[in-house]
Amino acid sequence: MAPRLIIAPSILAADFTRLGEEVRAVDAAGADWIHIDVMDGRFVPNLTYGAKVIETVRRLTTLPLDVHLMVLEPEQYFDSFAEAGADILTIHQETAPHLHRQLARIRELGCKAAVTINPSTPVSTLVDVATDVDMILIMSVNPGFGGQRFIPRTLEKVRQARQLLDAAGNRGAMIEVDGGISRATIASCWRAGADTFVAGNAIFAAADPRAEIGALRTLCQETV
Ligand code: DX5
Ligand code: ZN
Repeated sequence: MAPRLIIAPSILAADFTRLGEEVRAVDAAGADWIHIDVMDGRFVPNLTYGAKVIETVRRLTTLPLDVHLMVLEPEQYFDSFAEAGADILTIHQETAPHLHRQLARIRELGCKAAVTINPSTPVSTLVDVATDVDMILIMSVNPGFGGQRFIPRTLEKVRQARQLLDAAGNRGAMIEVDGGISRATIASCWRAGADTFVAGNAIFAAADPRAEIGALRTLCQETV
């Protein structure tokens, strides 16, 4: 069986005057998930969208919706985002003092529960929730904006996250990377142990999203 490899285009880089076409295009181009970046202008210095956009994208595609909550008090949004059609809810360790309870609540709502850490937050902060997560997202940029440069230190953190999950016996959990993923960076993340890749600009700014998704996938598969 081929190893799991998920490509999740982030609609942050989409043309919102044509959101419907953009989502349908990446779906048809072979995307596995759609990544939705929710920002509150408090945890991160930018504001984006919430339940209304999740619900809109839900009507455009049957692909899993991977919702990244860059917000303070993320638990305020769990119910409405699950109701709007989110499949995966990812919360920041930095915003979640009751991480164990918050992850359990996400699962109770029928969503996959994921936790993410900023570039300056150590992987070791996740050791006590290693069996409570369906996915760990290692941020490869400081969250808030698309189009930033990949931070190389991410690779070591991906390796550590994989070790942490293995040591906990959580072999089903995925490791995602988000920020600056492109043809230049994806294979090194894959080799380090990531299996799930968010890409905004790399896919939406490409002349041919299908070719781009195919190229990203091939770069990983070639290094198996
Ligand atoms: C950054 C967001 C990312 C962003 C990635 O805060 O979490 O998901 O959309 O964009 P690119 O792939 O353009 O770096
Ligand atoms: Zn994101």
